[in-house]
Amino acid sequence: MRDRWSRFQLLLFWLTVLAVWAFEVEARKRVKLGLHKNPEPIEENIKNELKTLSIKHKLKADDTQATTKQDTKSQGTGSRVATLENRYNTEYYTTLGFGNPPQAMQVLIDTGSANLWVLSSKCPDSVAPCANRIKYNSSASTTYRAINSTFSIAYGSNSEDGPIALSGFQSQDTVNFGGYSIKNQIFAEINYAPDTAFLKSEFVGIVGLGFSSIAMGGITPPFYNLVAEGLISRAVFSIYLNRNGTDATHGGELILGGTDSGLYSGCLTYVPVSSAGYWQFTMTSATVNGFQFCENCEAILDVGTSLIVVPEPVLAAINQILGVLDATPSNGVYQVNCSTVSELPDVVLTIARRKFPLKFSDYVLRYGNTCVSGFTSMKGNNLLILGEIFLGAYYTVYDTVYKLIGLAPAVH
Ligand SMILES: *[C@@H]1O[C@H](CO)[C@@H](O)[C@H](O)[C@H]1NC(C)=O
Ligand SMILES: *[C@@H]1O[C@H](CO)[C@@H](O)[C@H](O)[C@H]1NC(C)=O
Ligand SMILES: *[C@@H]1O[C@H](CO)[C@@H](O)[C@H](O)[C@H]1NC(C)=O
Ligand SMILES: *[C@@H]1O[C@H](CO)[C@@H](O)[C@H](O)[C@H]1NC(C)=O
Repeated sequence: MRDRWSRFQLLLFWLTVLAVWAFEVEARKRVKLGLHKNPEPIEENIKNELKTLSIKHKLKADDTQATTKQDTKSQGTGSRVATLENRYNTEYYTTLGFGNPPQAMQVLIDTGSANLWVLSSKCPDSVAPCANRIKYNSSASTTYRAINSTFSIAYGSNSEDGPIALSGFQSQDTVNFGGYSIKNQIFAEINYAPDTAFLKSEFVGIVGLGFSSIAMGGITPPFYNLVAEGLISRAVFSIYLNRNGTDATHGGELILGGTDSGLYSGCLTYVPVSSAGYWQFTMTSATVNGFQFCENCEAILDVGTSLIVVPEPVLAAINQILGVLDATPSNGVYQVNCSTVSELPDVVLTIARRKFPLKFSDYVLRYGNTCVSGFTSMKGNNLLILGEIFLGAYYTVYDTVYKLIGLAPAVH
């Protein structure tokens, strides 16, 4: 059993995993608009990599965006389910098998980035995040091939220290993902991470499900290889999250290659991706108690983020409406009074022409007698980041070819 203190710390912990590439793009936008707001400071070496990526992104910006809708009613052939593990309703993991024989590694699923990495057995225990963790050992795999090129990635974070930068080198091996064996998947073995990186979490890697345009090092993300190797029939995946707390085997489903109409009600509403990097779209509106905090604003679906992240001035207004208890929140987490949460208003998001309401029971996390608001902000971020608070209430479909997002109420 965990003692009280560590439980308390867990309560006040939320995670965001978002390729930091966003900050650069946001900074460019601000410059364009003539707003003289400085972008967040980012280390020089990361910055250079980001520049290269922004250029790549620009080149891809002219991609035609088909808006053809597909029939996604049923889970067709050529799709499989990667089951998810739920941790405290704030993190969702899946287990991948690396190499031959497969080494099982628990990785966080993340639609806010597009790289696959795992901790490396070459990472010494003196690097705190590598100590006492399961790590990938290439020497124990018969299908491993060395690539060795260096790798680095930075994630936007809610910590005071700013973005979390990880580094290591590239390797190639067979990766088992949801029962599919992806041959020759390139991924990163991480052998350096800052002391505090992901220490409160138990995953040993991340699988990025974002568009390849935001993949660091130009590495093909695993989902693209599933399609390229003909393992799935449609370039679509979908996500269903359970919200009933920590559960190692029934945390939810990541369906590779299709959808499951048994997991949502009604029909899917489709919205085109507005910028193919994150799963980004233009949201029509968002309101709570008559306060409109989005009008055709840019939003992203991020399964690597626990809460809903709104711009800082918006959070102040939402917190007032929700009557949060904390004057000085810890880690940007705000508590609300459990006795009165049922009186809280719905937060209504309008996407395409359909309303997607979030009830208090969707956006308040409850741990015993502590209730935590599902809204927070992150320094320098102006996107509306719809994390697991939203994705628990709505089943989502991600079409990488037609660049469409599908949404429908999740069945629970
Ligand atoms: C990696 O695997 C090899 C071969 O099985 C083994 O000899 C070695 O001790 C392992 N290294 C680590 C760090 O576990
Ligand atoms: C990769 O690095 C290892 C260890 O430094 C070395 O033995 C191997 O030859 C390198 N492989 C390639 C393809 O560069
Ligand atoms: C959560 O719900 C799923 C699906 O109904 C169920 O199988 C699982 O046992 C539940 N887990 C917990 C911890 O209640
Ligand atoms: C929570 O609300 C109840 C009922 O209105 C009230 O009695 C209690 O003092 C409130 N608790 C806090 C911490 O404000």
